[in-house]
Amino acid sequence: MSKICVIGTGYVGLVTGACFADLGNSVTCLDVDENRINKLKAGIMPIYEPGLEQLVEQNVHAGRLTFTTSYSEALKDAEFAFIAVGTPSGVDGEADLQYVRQAAESIADLVEWPIIVVNKSTVPVGTGDWVADVITRRRNGRPLEFSVVSNPEFLREGSAINDFMYPDRVVLGSMHAEAAEKVARLYLSLRCPIMITDLRTAEMIKYASNAFLATRISFINEIATICEELGADVREVARGMGLDKRIGPSFLDAGLGWGGSCFPKDVKALAHMAVLHGSHPQLLQAVMDINRNQRRRVVVKLRRALGTLDQKVIGVLGLSFKPNTDDIREAPALEVIHLLENEGATVRAYDPQAMPNAAAVLPRLQLCQTPYEVAEGADALVLATEWNEFKQLDFERIYRVMRTPVIMDARNLWEPDQMRRIGFTYFAIGRGNQTGGR
Ligand code: NAD
Ligand code: UGA
Repeated sequence: MSKICVIGTGYVGLVTGACFADLGNSVTCLDVDENRINKLKAGIMPIYEPGLEQLVEQNVHAGRLTFTTSYSEALKDAEFAFIAVGTPSGVDGEADLQYVRQAAESIADLVEWPIIVVNKSTVPVGTGDWVADVITRRRNGRPLEFSVVSNPEFLREGSAINDFMYPDRVVLGSMHAEAAEKVARLYLSLRCPIMITDLRTAEMIKYASNAFLATRISFINEIATICEELGADVREVARGMGLDKRIGPSFLDAGLGWGGSCFPKDVKALAHMAVLHGSHPQLLQAVMDINRNQRRRVVVKLRRALGTLDQKVIGVLGLSFKPNTDDIREAPALEVIHLLENEGATVRAYDPQAMPNAAAVLPRLQLCQTPYEVAEGADALVLATEWNEFKQLDFERIYRVMRTPVIMDARNLWEPDQMRRIGFTYFAIGRGNQTGGR
């Protein structure tokens, strides 16, 4: 059993803390957000993540997991301090490291025993060295035995606990082999490949992985656009490609493009790092351009179908950036809604989890309690996030209540033949013939 402090209780910190506690460690999770910590102390989750509430409750009950806003309480006797604070985009696309700096400085101020500082936040290449430097300078000559280990996180929102407990790999980077091995021991029971490398390489593995996944999605979205012109079906194309073991089936779903708190900021930050060091990241730029266009193309299709968007009522199903999360950071749905509202449309929407978050940033958006309420009197319906509960709707009922039966299935969730049989004018992404209707 190890004594672990996790700094930052967002999607990554809270999941990391709860999972390490579940593996038998003694974990204190710290956040500067008092409201968040008060909620956690009361057993209320500040985010929606399947299985998290139960995992937290079990481990709090077992006495292995506690929450605090006090750095001195959280760091007391800690052998490991995991930094899991946010690293949002700065003004030029660079990763903003102010929260990482605050965490590192607090460690420097309060720790007087040997400690391993583990960077779990996604940070630019070189940040591990910079964190060591921040701590050393802050100590101002007072000795401290510490090492920095990079331990990038690869979990996905919506399946975060499973991803943490059954990872494809754990990556550790450090200039101190002994420190990296101590962190490796925390993961041994997961029985997954553990790769130990140097600090900068570990940091780059994280960016390269996210950028590659985003590239796959932009690639299939570009293929989808070509499919539309040529009358092929991108879903079948992706299936046919994915059966090749060298390609594999994952991350080939064409749709509204990638959003979320990570791909957008990480691809941008990697491109920024490249430019700063004299490279021309042309592929990354194209990957971002295609992604931006993907949302606009949906609005263009709707405008063409309806003649104009001005004064039209558009229903949107799904607001979160992907299913099974309430996270709306860089959600494609939100950008589509902005574009529609800018063209004079009234937008109403339903999402199983993300409506409170969306209401806070989209004051004009009308929120509904069911998909059918969204469809009532609408001129078009857009499927923006493929939540399970949208898979099997009563489409006959939706057809009856819409003003004009136009459907834009921007996640290729539904069957074109079925939709056209019912009578919808049905559009999808990259699925050949784009018309229909009775
Ligand atoms: P988040 O915004 O959900 O949470 C960050 C938390 O850190 C917030 O609760 C904030 O109050 C807290 N915080 C900020 N400054 C602090 C400080 N000085 N001391 C203590 N707490 C502080 O962020 P997230 O989505 O969990 O992401 C965290 C990091 O992990 C980012 O670098 C991100 O790129 C990376 N990451 C995220 C995911 C994901 O799925 N969200 C997956 C892998 C990696
Ligand atoms: C992603 C990575 O998958 C994680 O490995 C990584 O740890 C994380 O970013 C991070 O660094 O934060 P996440 O953003 O939670 O995880 O979600 P994904 O499942 O990767 O989806 C990202 C976006 O791509 C979503 O908007 C999703 O709708 C879109 N997507 C995904 C597609 O459009 N097509 C696909 O085939 C897959």
